[in-house]
Amino acid sequence: MATVLITGGTGLIGRPLTAALLEKGYEVIILTRDPARYTMHTTRLSYAAWDPAAGVIDIAAITKADHIIHLAGAGVADKRWSKKRKREIVESRVKSGELLVKALKETSNKVQSVISSSAIGWYGPDSKEQNAGFTEEAPPAADFLGQTCKQWEASIEPVTQLGKRLVKLRVGIVLGKEGGALKEFLKPLRFGIASILGSGRQVISWIQLEDMVRLYITAIEKDNMNGVYNAVTPSPVTNKQLIMALARKKRGRLYIPVYVPSFILKIILGEMSIEVLKSTSVSCNKLSKSGFIFQYPTITAAFNDIK
Ligand SMILES: NC(=O)c1ccc[n+]([C@@H]2O[C@H](COP(=O)([O-])OP(=O)(O)OC[C@H]3O[C@@H](n4cnc5c(N)ncnc54)[C@H](OP(=O)(O)O)[C@@H]3O)[C@@H](O)[C@H]2O)c1
Repeated sequence: MATVLITGGTGLIGRPLTAALLEKGYEVIILTRDPARYTMHTTRLSYAAWDPAAGVIDIAAITKADHIIHLAGAGVADKRWSKKRKREIVESRVKSGELLVKALKETSNKVQSVISSSAIGWYGPDSKEQNAGFTEEAPPAADFLGQTCKQWEASIEPVTQLGKRLVKLRVGIVLGKEGGALKEFLKPLRFGIASILGSGRQVISWIQLEDMVRLYITAIEKDNMNGVYNAVTPSPVTNKQLIMALARKKRGRLYIPVYVPSFILKIILGEMSIEVLKSTSVSCNKLSKSGFIFQYPTITAAFNDIK
């Protein structure tokens, strides 16, 4: 069976993706900055070291791989966006992309496809002209995330000149209770509070974690997938719809909706507040036309397993 090399395979998407690939019989190598932390090596799962900031990568891992899934990057919402943090967010993606390209160029290898993450941060906020959902042809936004995604995608693009099939997934907000946005949305509900952010009318384009995992595997397996795809469901929701659906699922009728004013979010989050307050409606038409079927197409379905 083929070997899949996953960069940043230790994170929210990488962990269930690794489990799903192993379940399907693939061999998996995880490229991590800290392989000593992971001792769960088996005959089909191993960890290899790299340090994108220093330009160091375990070449043996590259030579063994048939496919590469590129997930690595400093968490966009993990810390306040100081100048230093913004540089880290960009460089962790650009330097890692460039390092993969360099390794593939300089090492004899059998890699057929590279599936790279990107994000719907590529697109700016919805506008009057654009309200039917951004499609893949839309230009990048001029803001921080738009320009980060532009550089991120450009850094991995040269693999196509090396004859590799490249799929870039512009990932929406991933909903999985193990981490990311959903874990944050769940926190106040422990105290019976459904916190609606700002007006709550801002549109969130999202994808359930299991669908996200299946999509990365589909992108490996379907040779006719090529180029950019928006990785979002057909049913974006407003922040209020999402929070209320979650509150009903988690607490029945025992919750109090509380609006967190925009100015408070601006104080707490700084520049990052723009992202939680902005509407981004993104189209999944190209993905659906490719034949991908969502198992969790609606927000109610996505919250099925929440207890
Ligand atoms: N989750 C979402 O809602 C979402 C939405 C849109 C796009 N995405 C993108 O999809 C990718 C995977 O998402 P995820 O949620 O699984 O991310 P995650 O949980 O933050 O994991 C990403 C992995 O990247 C590695 N990493 C962190 N900082 C790094 C740095 N400075 N340099 C190099 N590697 C670094 C880490 O692996 P090691 O510590 O083992 O090296 C980490 O486990 C990310 O690039 C993310 O931006 C995610």
